[in-house]
Amino acid sequence: MTNEKVSIHGIWASRWVFILAATGSAVGLGNIWKFPYMAGAYGGGAFVLVYLCCIALIGLPVMLAETLLGRRGRQSPVNTLRSLARQSGASERWSWAAMMGMLAALLILSFYSVVAGWALDYILAMARGDFNGIDGAGAGARFDALTADPLRLTLWHTLFMLLTAFIIGRGVVAGLERSLRILMPLLFVLLVVLLGYSLTTGHFMEGVRFLFHFDLAKVPEGILAAMGHAFFTLSVGVGSIMVFGAYMPRKASLGSTIITVGLLDTVVALTAGMALFPVVFAAGLEPSAGPGLMFVTLPIAFGTISMGVLFGVVFFVLVAIAAWSSAISMLEPAVAYWVERSGKSRPAVTALMAVFCWVVGLGTVFSFNLLADARFFVTNTDGWHFFLWTSEGGKTFFESIDYLTSRIFLPLGGLLFVIFAGWVLDREVFRGELALKHPRLFPVVYWLLRYLAPAGILIIFITELSK
Ligand code: PFF
Ligand code: NA
Repeated sequence: MTNEKVSIHGIWASRWVFILAATGSAVGLGNIWKFPYMAGAYGGGAFVLVYLCCIALIGLPVMLAETLLGRRGRQSPVNTLRSLARQSGASERWSWAAMMGMLAALLILSFYSVVAGWALDYILAMARGDFNGIDGAGAGARFDALTADPLRLTLWHTLFMLLTAFIIGRGVVAGLERSLRILMPLLFVLLVVLLGYSLTTGHFMEGVRFLFHFDLAKVPEGILAAMGHAFFTLSVGVGSIMVFGAYMPRKASLGSTIITVGLLDTVVALTAGMALFPVVFAAGLEPSAGPGLMFVTLPIAFGTISMGVLFGVVFFVLVAIAAWSSAISMLEPAVAYWVERSGKSRPAVTALMAVFCWVVGLGTVFSFNLLADARFFVTNTDGWHFFLWTSEGGKTFFESIDYLTSRIFLPLGGLLFVIFAGWVLDREVFRGELALKHPRLFPVVYWLLRYLAPAGILIIFITELSK
C-alpha cells in the first residue's frame, strides 16, 4: 500500500523539522519588509484583521491541501499529483498544476535572490558605518547607486544563489534539516533582540499605534491586498509546502502542524512591524511606503539612533537569513522532480536549476539599470503590446515576473491544489490522511477546503485580473 511509501529524497526526523522547514519557507521578505508597510498603508488594525481572516480561511486550507497531498504522494509535487490522479482515476494532466507551480517558484527565486542580495550588501555597508549620520537624500542616493550598478548587483545575486544551491545540493537531511535547525532559532533570537531594542527606543507605543490604528475607510481597498499577501506570505500555491510535506513522518497530526506554521508566520510579521516602526519614529522619520522602508528609511534611522550600527547589522542579517530559508524552499520542488525524472545526482540537478534561476535573475538585475526602459504588458493608445522599448507605462522585467507569479501563477496553483484535494482525491483517503483528533470537526474542515477556499481564491483572482 502507498501508506508505507517513503520519499527517495529522505525524511524529516520529526514533525518539528517540517514545522521548521515550512516556517523557514513562509517567513521571509514578505513578513519583514512587505507586511509592516502594507499594514501601515491599508489602515493598520483593519488590514491586520482581514489579513488574519484570509490566513485562516484561505491560506491554511491551501497549506493543508498541499501538505496532505505531499505526504500521501511522497514524491516531488509533479509526480505526487500524477500518481494521486492515476490512483483516483483522474487525468494525469493534473500534474501540470504542479509543473506550473514549480516554474513559478523558480521565477520567484530569480528576483528574490536579487533583492536578498541587496540585504547582503547592506550588512556590509552597515558594518562599515556607511549610514552613520546619513540624511534622506544620502540614503536614497546610496540605494540608487547600488541598483544602478549591474556588476555589484550580479555579484550579490550570485553569492546568494550559491548559498541557496549549497544547502539544497547537500540534500534533505544533511542540507535542509541541519541548516534549518540552526537558522530558524537564530532568526527568532535576532527578532526578539530587535523587538527588545525597539522597546528601549521610547517610541514603542507610537509604533504599535501606527500598526494597529483602526482606519475603517481604508478597509475596502485593503481586502484584496490582504488576501493576495496571505498567499505569498505562507508560500502556498507553488508546491514548496507540498514537497516539504512529502518528507513528513506519517504519524504526525496535520491540523496542529499547519496551524503552528501559520501562527509562527503571523507572529513574525506582527513582531517585525512592532520592532521596525518604533525605530523609524525614534529617528524622527515618517514610515515611507514600498522598498524605501527597508533600504532607505530604515538605514537612516539606524544611522541616527544610538547603537544603531549594531542593530542595523543584526537587522540585515535577519533579513538575509529569512530570505535564505525561503529561497531554498523555492528550489526544492524542481530539484526533487528532476532527480526523480533524470536519475542524476542531486548536486548536479541543483547546479542546473540554480543556473537557470541565476540567468533569469540577470533580467531583474538589468531591469534596474541597463534595461530599465524595456517594458512588458504595455497598453497605450494603439492597443496592447507584450513588449515595447519605451520609458512610459508597462512593467519592467522585474515587475513583470513579480506580477506573473504573485498575481497569476500563485492563486491559480493554490486553487488547483485545493480543488484536487477536495474534489479529486477520494473523500475517505482525505479523511484517513487528515486523521483529525476530533473527528466531529471533519465536515467543517472539508467544507472549508471544498467550497470556501476555492470560492475565496476565485474572487481574488478574478478581481485582480479585471483591474
Ligand atoms: N513566503 C515567503 C515570504 O513571505 O517572503 C515568500 C515565498 C517563499 C513565496 C516560497 C513562495 C515560495 F514558494
Ligand atoms: Na511570509
